[in-house]
Amino acid sequence: MRITVIGSGYVGLVTGACLAEVGNDVLCLDIDQAKIDMINAGGIPIHEPGLDQLVARNMAGGRLAFTSDPARASSHGRVQFIAVGTPPDEDGSADLKYVIAAARNIARHMTDYKIVVDKSTVPVGTADKVREAMASVLAERGEEIPFSVVSNPEFLKEGAAIDDFMSPDRIVIGADEPRAIEAMRTLYSPFVRNHDRLLVMNVRSAELTKYAANSMLATRISFMNELSVLAERVGADIEAVRVGIGSDSRIGYSFLYAGCGYGGSCFPKDVKALVRTAADNGVDLDILRAVEGANDRQKRLLVDKVKKLFGERLHGRHFALWGLAFKPKTDDMREAASREIIAGLLAAGATITAYDPVATDEAKRIYAEESRITFSIRPLDACQGADALIIVTEWKEFRSPDFDGVRERLKQPVIIDGRNMYVPRDIRELGFEYISIGRP
Ligand SMILES: NC(=O)c1ccc[n+]([C@@H]2O[C@H](COP(=O)([O-])OP(=O)(O)OC[C@H]3O[C@@H](n4cnc5c(N)ncnc54)[C@H](O)[C@@H]3O)[C@@H](O)[C@H]2O)c1
Repeated sequence: MRITVIGSGYVGLVTGACLAEVGNDVLCLDIDQAKIDMINAGGIPIHEPGLDQLVARNMAGGRLAFTSDPARASSHGRVQFIAVGTPPDEDGSADLKYVIAAARNIARHMTDYKIVVDKSTVPVGTADKVREAMASVLAERGEEIPFSVVSNPEFLKEGAAIDDFMSPDRIVIGADEPRAIEAMRTLYSPFVRNHDRLLVMNVRSAELTKYAANSMLATRISFMNELSVLAERVGADIEAVRVGIGSDSRIGYSFLYAGCGYGGSCFPKDVKALVRTAADNGVDLDILRAVEGANDRQKRLLVDKVKKLFGERLHGRHFALWGLAFKPKTDDMREAASREIIAGLLAAGATITAYDPVATDEAKRIYAEESRITFSIRPLDACQGADALIIVTEWKEFRSPDFDGVRERLKQPVIIDGRNMYVPRDIRELGFEYISIGRP
């Protein structure tokens, strides 16, 4: 099939590369010329395991190409995926300006039937707005060209995006028109070969499903985070509680880790946007407002713990920080807990040396104007002369570090662990004061 993917970010790049991998003829569009130039020169703008080889292989095979020309993109694919960003607007609702711009571009240049697929995370009712935007452009052109609009939310996880796309738990298709549904079935059949996992529903249900999924996951995290605060107070161990409840097959183990708060480009904005959609429709989502509040508190928790140890004023204090990305295996720092923690430490007067295996370039871009944070190339170097080590992202390489090296470099052997990486008794035996989340 000839496919266009509009937006070549995390979702668009992965979608385009994976669809090309199974033999489709894919053209990816982005308005960011620098991004397109970089990819065409053999680079990859994001860190996602395996993506560089996948893109290179399919470009070399002539199945995957990149452009910044909307006219070329519009005429290329019978199927047009919209995978542009939907950042939060000031009131928390999803800002649809990129989605609508993409839809208008398709309509401006199309000459034959198109299936327009919303892959961006968009609020209920967006497919109607896309349809209206396209219809008005076609009317301006004086053309009557048929098109269908389909909702196909994406569930991939950064860090495991290719596997998630290639072997999805399910593919949600929101569509009404048989020819669009049929095209989606054909397109996705290589990814559901061992059993059918295509769920077809009406457009609005598909749009809501994506928000419901992310909100449920965020709820589980916030629930555990709130319980972790209680666990600390009453002398319980949140890790034991996690295993205790996770073993119930109705609950399961996933997304039950207490920590220093969820971040990333999806959970925070999607929870906000769903609360907003509900409010616009006269429904109060109390649970989700609490989920958000609990997460905001949790992101401040590590700084509170630092202040409890070192005092409210941190002038003259220096901290080592391990982990900047919002989760392991990505360089994405959007809404990362590290940003809240860095802001809190700097505001109290501290200085920081941070280490992250892949997000340092992104952090250098974010903190280009900030001289009180520096970056190290190796994790141990960050600890040199620091008052404590603060762990924010649970990268694998932090699981079993050179503890002697850490202790020798720190001014005092203190580890404040926002991800419960270690067994408290073991680490105390190594001579550390160890502060974690929700454990006695
Ligand atoms: N990142 C994830 O893990 C993830 C997972 C599932 C769903 N989503 C959703 O997918 C959507 C995209 O997310 P992302 O993380 O890939 O965003 P991103 O910011 O990485 O990429 C979006 C890209 O779209 C481009 N763009 C904007 N307007 C354009 C236009 N009119 N034409 C062409 N390109 C345009 C931008 O330049 C950017 O490169 C969002 O709605 C997000 O919520 C993201």
